[in-house]
Amino acid sequence: MKITVLSLFPEILRGFFESSIMAKAVERGLMSCELVNIRDYAIDKHRKCDDEVFGGGAGMLMLPGPLSRALEAAGSSPCPPAGEASPEPGARKRTVFVTPSGRLFNQAMAAEFSREAELVIVCGRYEGVDQRVIDRYVTDEVSIGDYVLSSGEIAALVLVDAVYRLVPGVISGESLLEESFAASGGARAAALLEYPQYTRPALYDTLRVPEVLTSGHHANIVRWRLRESVRKTLAYRPELLAAEGLSSEVRKLLREIITEGGNDEPNTEDPGAANDGR
Ligand code: ADE
Repeated sequence: MKITVLSLFPEILRGFFESSIMAKAVERGLMSCELVNIRDYAIDKHRKCDDEVFGGGAGMLMLPGPLSRALEAAGSSPCPPAGEASPEPGARKRTVFVTPSGRLFNQAMAAEFSREAELVIVCGRYEGVDQRVIDRYVTDEVSIGDYVLSSGEIAALVLVDAVYRLVPGVISGESLLEESFAASGGARAAALLEYPQYTRPALYDTLRVPEVLTSGHHANIVRWRLRESVRKTLAYRPELLAAEGLSSEVRKLLREIITEGGNDEPNTEDPGAANDGR
């Protein structure tokens, strides 16, 4: 997958692109990334990229010229003029403008973007971007949350990070299956928040790891994790539990948790349950 990010301040993004897993993914040929400085496409002697808003209003807007030229150079195709046939769905390069007035970003969108061969992301600055550029080149307007950042670079990084790690081979499939919002696996037909996790030592200061996790009883561990996922989702994101597709097991756990604070007794029927005491 190739990701191209257009920005007036590409240095904000460079560190991320050159670090850690992303650099490895690039080295392994799974990803390629390009940072484009929109100012390189300004043609006047001051390399001007912004101007006042028609009709009045605070702040400045990004000019259509430099950004359009940068988008053309990145291979984003213009949407055909009114009256002309639209291209086949998927024929236009996916071009995302990150903006607080876009569609709210989520894991399903990240997965959808990760299936594209190429993604172009536009970072806004100042008060935003001339609408004509959005109308002509942008296929998706995306917000990372209901708050306003001072520019699009941080939002673009959030988007890139959520997307590239889903590209096959970048991160192990097993890690992806178990994290929050993974909605594909086994009993987890709907997306739940991830359960709490612990590492050694089993007793840290006065704090002990839940006993079930050191019991070696796999079925109890799976059940405990699912229950904790449901409990956490209920506490922090109850709206996720109202979604279609909750498994009967999740619904049962939910009822238990709501009615009596839950029955946390581990299942001791398995005679093979071993406590290795770590
Ligand atoms: N730019 C500024 N705020 C933003 C947000 N919440 N999401 C996406 N882009 C932004």
